[in-house]
Amino acid sequence: MKIAIAGLGTVGAETARQLIHHHDQIAQRSGMTMTVTAVSARDANRDRGFPMDGIAFEQDPVALASRDDVDVVVELIGGEDGPALDLIEAALANGKSVVTANKALLAKHGARLSAAAEDAGLALAGEASVAGGIPSLKMLREGLVANRISRISGILNGTCNYILSTMETTGRDFDDVLSEAQALGYAEADPSFDVDGIDAAHKLALLTAIGYGVVPDFDAISITGIRSVSAVDIAAAKNFGYAIRLLAIAENHQGAITASVQPTMVPLSSGLAKVDGPLNAVAIDGEPIGSVIAIGPGAGAGATASAVLADIVDVATGRAAPFFGAKADTLSTASASNTGDICRFYLRLTVYDRPGVLADVTAVLRDHNISVESLLQQGRADEGVNGTVPVVLTTHDTQSPSMLAAIEEIKKLDAVTAEPTVMVISGDAAHHDES
Ligand SMILES: NC(=O)c1ccc[n+]([C@@H]2O[C@H](COP(=O)([O-])OP(=O)(O)OC[C@H]3O[C@@H](n4cnc5c(N)ncnc54)[C@H](OP(=O)(O)O)[C@@H]3O)[C@@H](O)[C@H]2O)c1
Repeated sequence: MKIAIAGLGTVGAETARQLIHHHDQIAQRSGMTMTVTAVSARDANRDRGFPMDGIAFEQDPVALASRDDVDVVVELIGGEDGPALDLIEAALANGKSVVTANKALLAKHGARLSAAAEDAGLALAGEASVAGGIPSLKMLREGLVANRISRISGILNGTCNYILSTMETTGRDFDDVLSEAQALGYAEADPSFDVDGIDAAHKLALLTAIGYGVVPDFDAISITGIRSVSAVDIAAAKNFGYAIRLLAIAENHQGAITASVQPTMVPLSSGLAKVDGPLNAVAIDGEPIGSVIAIGPGAGAGATASAVLADIVDVATGRAAPFFGAKADTLSTASASNTGDICRFYLRLTVYDRPGVLADVTAVLRDHNISVESLLQQGRADEGVNGTVPVVLTTHDTQSPSMLAAIEEIKKLDAVTAEPTVMVISGDAAHHDES
């Protein structure tokens, strides 16, 4: 099997190194001989950690698609359009199967590209695009194929998980931990794709499509990132028996699909709360299996190359399934909806420390039929900023539209001085601290 790799960065160079340095072991496990015949990157001269002699270098990645000595094209450039898309389209048009790790591209163009591959009798494989080294797509699409999937939930962004779990263990605030994460290489110089929840939503769009047989619909996902999570929230969550994680959740309520990415309070005793540092987790609830959770490295050279190599072996041995499990032209276009969820909420307000403020807040909640479970005022005004104090509360089960309407009214109260922070509470804490 002759392989071309476009992009020789973190993932591409490691994929090539593994194919070259572990050639015999991969041949023994797969029954196929894999040879890297051509590569592409911007810089032809940089040392990539593997010998380039005998490997053709193309300055233009799209040229890989028309080479006679290439059977499979591996796209590891990145970006939802541009050269990555041009290359994949050209490869499929020229009769070559494609392996990619590109979640942004698959979330946007996956249905069309998968249909093109299927029409041409080719494979489009993208295991590494979701949760890095965890075989999450294969688990959902193949291992759990007979299940009716009720819920897909996951910690799908290692950068956010590193930041939130470090805030939890150190008590430090978001900006401080983000700077450290950037210095350690866990966060990009421009961290917005990660911390604003975009990256996790691309991955959730793909999991939702596979789990529920729908066209990936990034725009239907309600997305909130982690920038507004403060040290006060982390401490309050702990006090209530929870940890905060950026959860990607898709649920099927009798045919209506809801999909969201948001900071969520999960019970400290739950499996997801124990996922620390840059790890990822994917949890699937289905019938008849019940629940399955897979935890592992969601990014990094080795973990991601592991998933890319598994796809290369599947393509080479003819075992690659259609990307979405079902054929792409059978996916339904039913949009996800996000109205009418019922859940418990956490709310943090910054208010002037004066009599009657809490009564005003609880009156608004009462008017929207929202029942308060716990209420905590953190400290006194003389400890806070400009005479303000944080107030945190949790609710009993509440319709999300009621919560949103109540927050709009609470924001208008004179005593409320900053944008409220609101989070969903998922599951019950074992030891609940009612205050
Ligand atoms: N890094 C991870 O942990 C991880 C995890 C899961 C999925 N992914 C996905 O894997 C893909 C690659 O990520 P990465 O982290 O390996 O990226 P990266 O380190 O930035 O590498 C990108 C590579 O693409 C090459 N490139 C950029 N533009 C090009 C062009 N116009 N023509 C030819 N080559 C070009 C670069 O060449 P030069 O080296 O010469 O500049 C570089 O080798 C992305 O889709 C990403 O989302 C990454």
